[in-house]
Amino acid sequence: MNLRFQQAPAEEWQANTVLLFNFKGEEVTESIPNLRDSIPWITITPAIQDAKGEKNQVTVAYGHPSVPMPRAVIVGLGDRKSFTLEVLRDAVKTAALKCRELKADTCAIPVEALDTIEEENTVLVEEAVASALIALHTYDALKTTQKEPAHTPRWMALLSTEDFFPDDIHAAARRGEAAALGVNYTRDLVNAPANIITPSALAEKAEELGKKYNFKRTILGREEIIEAGMGAFMSVAAGSDADPKFIVMEHAPKGTENDDPIVFVGKGVTFDTGGISLKPSLNMHEMKCDMGGAGAVFGLFEALGNSDIERRVIGITPCTDNMPSSTATHPGDVVTSLNGKTIEVINTDAEGRLILVDALTYAQKEYKPSAIIDLATLTGACVVALGAHAAAVFATDDDLTKNIAETGSRVGDRYWPMPLWDFYFEAMKSDVADMKNVGTREGGTIHAALFLKQFIEEDVRWAHLDIAGPAYNSKGGATGFGVRTLLELVRSGV
Ligand code: BES
Ligand code: ZN
Ligand code: ZN
Repeated sequence: MNLRFQQAPAEEWQANTVLLFNFKGEEVTESIPNLRDSIPWITITPAIQDAKGEKNQVTVAYGHPSVPMPRAVIVGLGDRKSFTLEVLRDAVKTAALKCRELKADTCAIPVEALDTIEEENTVLVEEAVASALIALHTYDALKTTQKEPAHTPRWMALLSTEDFFPDDIHAAARRGEAAALGVNYTRDLVNAPANIITPSALAEKAEELGKKYNFKRTILGREEIIEAGMGAFMSVAAGSDADPKFIVMEHAPKGTENDDPIVFVGKGVTFDTGGISLKPSLNMHEMKCDMGGAGAVFGLFEALGNSDIERRVIGITPCTDNMPSSTATHPGDVVTSLNGKTIEVINTDAEGRLILVDALTYAQKEYKPSAIIDLATLTGACVVALGAHAAAVFATDDDLTKNIAETGSRVGDRYWPMPLWDFYFEAMKSDVADMKNVGTREGGTIHAALFLKQFIEEDVRWAHLDIAGPAYNSKGGATGFGVRTLLELVRSGV
């Protein structure tokens, strides 16, 4: 769905379906001053009586087919006092899906109709655009018998009565669009099955993104990964015939090339069988989502490619599948990581942390990061702790935790803080190596974070996001969780 911008007297606005929003107990026509000019029929249509403004209540109203805006989809926002951006995103999603159901050819939002909401119009427009585009995106590349693809309006217009369309609203809409492109890119990667999104396929995606948006990329294959000394990463790839790929992307607009970069590291396990510590088969198919961290980093780069953010950003995604075979790592094997520390692999299903530590070491060896943030579908324990609605955030300083949590909550990604207390590492001491790759079952999320922390040097600002819960839903599939947070962190400089 494309975005359009119409500036004209209200009676000249054109779209098949206008999207309107009202608070509980407030009349639609009251809150929107120029509605009488743009949609005169709406003041007399009986259907308007139904629009009570209850949260997500949908009312459809019709004018004569010959008028420039013959249909309205009105969605309730609930109590004015409890308005949040979440409420708006939900309402826009509801409106967009109603447009799909009604097969609306085109749709539009009058920007001035947002004036009565207590929040900047730029923020509201950005969120509305992002939400509509995310709601209408589907993954049906692999469906060959579907009669017709899910309907999507050809365009969504933002309507203004100003002589010139306001620049700030235009820019806000484009920001929302860039964010949605990133989120939807991630969803496509994570929804794609493991026979399609292999490590090599991800390497090709990095090449494509790099060519399209002028990003530098460095891609290491099996031999180079071994040569570099990434023994922890290779211990996961050992069981698979599929070539692992260590993918580095760099966004460095002119003038930022020598800045200290923000580095994002994403877990790219394209399929997690558990390895020799094999997972039960029930729901194992969902482990195609185990590259959700890498997927978010890729989505960030798609979003950056559609933005004009002047900051140096590095994305590192170690990618491999985790397979059992005669060459796979045995439980009990000891491997040497890139920074020289030895790890006793007690459980080959705790593989995410093994690939991440070599990427974290690489980030600190190659760059002088202003901050390192890793994202990973790392532990089932995190899903037990927080469920599907929130990710855990661990960070070396409270400001970073706070920044991530607040940034996330503004754009709809929820984070909850967890502790990085060193005594949790006691359970990971090994008799034969520097550490084991697992602690006790209890506190499994914290043990995983503490394991990663062993590879972070003094004074490096680092945060770890365990996104195992929110990255993927059994029902709706991939969510693109994290992409919008990363984009906003980059925009604000973390
Ligand atoms: N990829 C899984 C974690 C996961 C679980 C992601 C559910 C998404 C949804 C991870 O590699 C894993 O298997 N972790 C083990 C660690 C354990 C062996 C210490 C787990 O959580 O059970
Ligand atoms: Zn695993
Ligand atoms: Zn995993």
